Amino acid sequence: MSNVHLIDHPLVQHKLTLMRRKDASTNSFRRLLNEMSLLMAYEVTRDMPMQDIEIETPLETMQAKVIDGKKLVFVSILRAGNGILDGMLSVVPGARVGHIGLYRDPKTLTAVEYYFKMPTHMPERDVIVVDPMLATGNSAIAAVDRLKEIGPKSIKFVCLLTCPEGIAALQRAHPDVPIYTAAIDRELNEHGYILPGLGDAGDRIFGTQ
Ligand code: URA
Repeated sequence: MSNVHLIDHPLVQHKLTLMRRKDASTNSFRRLLNEMSLLMAYEVTRDMPMQDIEIETPLETMQAKVIDGKKLVFVSILRAGNGILDGMLSVVPGARVGHIGLYRDPKTLTAVEYYFKMPTHMPERDVIVVDPMLATGNSAIAAVDRLKEIGPKSIKFVCLLTCPEGIAALQRAHPDVPIYTAAIDRELNEHGYILPGLGDAGDRIFGTQ
């Protein structure tokens, strides 16, 4: 699958297995998600542009690398996307954060927007959209549709888990958006849940039902 980056680092895979277990507590689910997000942030930011600046070490002057350009934006698809934000921000603490509120209509499974707030200067910024589950793809597509209206420099999509149906839908709508994921599960069920999956990510993060 082109434009899909499977993050198969052993630490990521191990933590994902612990998260999938139905007996994982809310506390450990949230902690593991935070740790996984941090590790995934390394992969997704691997190609960030760099520039050389002159600095003084205690011994001499040197040209050293720093990240170039305007601050990156993490865009969280509410509410489950917020579970990924803290881990990502611990690696990129200066990043800006945008939020998109979308809920899934339980009958049609389509995404309905109720909130949209982005930082300024979006056309000069690279965006990383975060949502733990890429399932039907409807929320991801709706989020990317909205973001493209304000035209950021680039858009990437990060999730913990996806399935062939979710990847196909997002790639059909937005072939230019790379997908970063820790696993591609077997399939989507008739309720729009990923199998074997990990259940409802929002409920597991926030301890709701
Ligand atoms: N959203 C979830 O939280 N879990 C799924 O399996 C699919 C969508």
